[in-house]
Amino acid sequence: MEDLTSWDALERSRTEYAVGDLETGLLVPVKRLSYGHSGTENCVVHGENMAAMACLGPSISGQVKCAYMDPPYRTGERFTHYDDDAGHEEWLRDVAVRVKRVWELLTDDGSVWVSIDDNEVHYLKVAVDRLIGRDKFVTTITWQQRTTRENRKAFSNNHEYMLVYAKNPRRFSQTRNGLAMTEDVQSRYANHDDDPRGPWQSVSANVQAGHAAASQFYVITAPNGRKHTPPNGRCWVYNKQRMDLEIAQGNIWFGKDGLGVPRLKKFLSASRRGLTPETLWSAKDVGTNDHAKKHIQNLFPGEPPFDTPKPEALLARILQIASNPGDLVLDPYFGSGTTGAVALKASRRFIGIEAGEHAATVAAARLRQVVDGEQGGVSGLMGWQGGGGFDFFRLSK
Ligand SMILES: C[S@@+](CC[C@H](N)C(=O)[O-])C[C@H]1O[C@@H](n2cnc3c(N)ncnc32)[C@H](O)[C@@H]1O
Repeated sequence: MEDLTSWDALERSRTEYAVGDLETGLLVPVKRLSYGHSGTENCVVHGENMAAMACLGPSISGQVKCAYMDPPYRTGERFTHYDDDAGHEEWLRDVAVRVKRVWELLTDDGSVWVSIDDNEVHYLKVAVDRLIGRDKFVTTITWQQRTTRENRKAFSNNHEYMLVYAKNPRRFSQTRNGLAMTEDVQSRYANHDDDPRGPWQSVSANVQAGHAAASQFYVITAPNGRKHTPPNGRCWVYNKQRMDLEIAQGNIWFGKDGLGVPRLKKFLSASRRGLTPETLWSAKDVGTNDHAKKHIQNLFPGEPPFDTPKPEALLARILQIASNPGDLVLDPYFGSGTTGAVALKASRRFIGIEAGEHAATVAAARLRQVVDGEQGGVSGLMGWQGGGGFDFFRLSK
């Protein structure tokens, strides 16, 4: 077992920065690097993220709807813009305490999404569980981050993960957004009985009997008098009273000839919440690391590339699920500013914190292009024509 008291001590030592806010001057506005409309509440902060969050805490505590964290993965590499060669223990503690710090800034229905790869995901999951509570864990998303085969290793590693935690997982499941209906899903709806409520699809009316109540076992009598009992090991999804009501309301389908097993009609018009997000995110839907790198190279031709950007489509999906227009999004490992770019395009407010000089040379430079109507990434999808702005701050020592 890890010694959690030393974790707490470490966390305390890292949060004991002088607390200030935008007015008291610890975050120094840099007009020259700010751009577009002022007063948008969008911020890029150049500084170490724990210190920056200590400064920002009083202003944003309880206000962050969605936090995206993309820490260095401890790959052992020295990238053009930052080193990724920390030791395991130090790295694990650093990242876990930052998740905890971000956690304290979330709204009651907020969530935090942490990107990580196969090498550290299991350690990080346990460490974060310990710091914020295992009951706050929502799911692990698996993202297909490359589509080409890596032949130099025993296995071609083509995916990485996102750990998702919510302040209140039950509330999150009620308030999170669904995904847009795909044509494929829409094509599964039809209107076999000219129902005035529009297209529908039928789904099973029986469920596994493992946790069933006695009231779920009964005989359904179809409108034509035919009797139906649930298959072995199954029971009806509703009790008899509710099922009779659903039949009376025309919500149960007995097949075109009325002789089929009862099934529930699910209407397209009732699926306003959209599709329930799945945990497997494919490259064709949310892009790959290569897509993201090419996008950045297009934005800065001839410049040294930023090695580890995330694709905008990945962030667009996260923000779609976990936030709404106007909500505040936080990214304490801002890198090339992908989260900020997508937040602008999707009308979210954002705070991005980045320790490296590339806060100015890459992230802010990219966001200037976005404000001016840059057309890469998810711009087409979002109908982005430019606008908005951001303020740039340097964290004073
Ligand atoms: C994997 S990259 C993030 C990439 C980003 N998601 C993107 O799409 O461009 C990690 C970033 O975190 C920054 N970073 C690492 N430790 C930090 C810290 N303690 N405070 C602020 N930034 C940090 C690194 O400089 C690097 O730019």
